[in-house]
Amino acid sequence: MFMHNKELLFPVNVKGPNPAFAAAVLEQFGGANGELKACLQYFAHSFTTKDPVIRDLLLDISTEEISHLEMVGECITQLMGGTDVDPNVMGSGEQTMRQEGATMGNANGYLNQIINQNSTVQKSVYLGGHGPDFIDSSGTPFTGNYINTVGDLMADLQSDLAAELRARKVYEELHRHVTDPGAREMFDFLVQREEAHALLFKEAIERVADMQGGGFEKSFGDKQYSKLYPELSMGGSASQMFRSDDARIITGPFTGDPDTDTFGGASPPMQ
Ligand SMILES: [Fe+2]
Repeated sequence: MFMHNKELLFPVNVKGPNPAFAAAVLEQFGGANGELKACLQYFAHSFTTKDPVIRDLLLDISTEEISHLEMVGECITQLMGGTDVDPNVMGSGEQTMRQEGATMGNANGYLNQIINQNSTVQKSVYLGGHGPDFIDSSGTPFTGNYINTVGDLMADLQSDLAAELRARKVYEELHRHVTDPGAREMFDFLVQREEAHALLFKEAIERVADMQGGGFEKSFGDKQYSKLYPELSMGGSASQMFRSDDARIITGPFTGDPDTDTFGGASPPMQ
């Protein structure tokens, strides 16, 4: 059961409407590395484990992600000037929009700007009622294909850790390009929360490794081809530098047949 708390997880107060900024922030609302993707991915993964600790962790973080989604949606709505628009009054909010358009160097004002220059914002105005739509910063609709889930808990948790690092990177880029101080304050908060989640997923991965007896590779087979590393780079191969002690380096042409492949001696020390 999920419940709704009427307070935002962190207050969002942008300085003023800015459609270009709103379009950029949409990347974290309906984009490939955004909050909805994170929320749904962790939610899906919670069904694939019976471990109560990891299941709770996934649901806790999934729930926090929808709180992040709420904040990002509020930020976009404010940047779109949506809070100044009364849907029952024709022309409501128009003056605010035109003023903002003028300050952005467009003499024709906000409306011409969004219609002629940014179809992403245009769509959110007409279809989203000045609020966020589930699209990314270029207008591409959200898709379930963004959600990485395969049913292998170790693989899924690695995807979750990567999702946090990806979200963090996007917020860092948004912080560079979106100069609204209120939006930046929100980005800074969310970067810190994604870092906290990344550390939790790292601990979850270590817990699963312990449960599996030492790591994901423990489930790998030790068969004919399982530890062969062909030397395919001229002048030294990364396979040699990172190989395990029982790896077999193929220094001649890779035939796939251990009887005919040429194996090298000891690997050079790592530089
Ligand atoms: Fe998040």
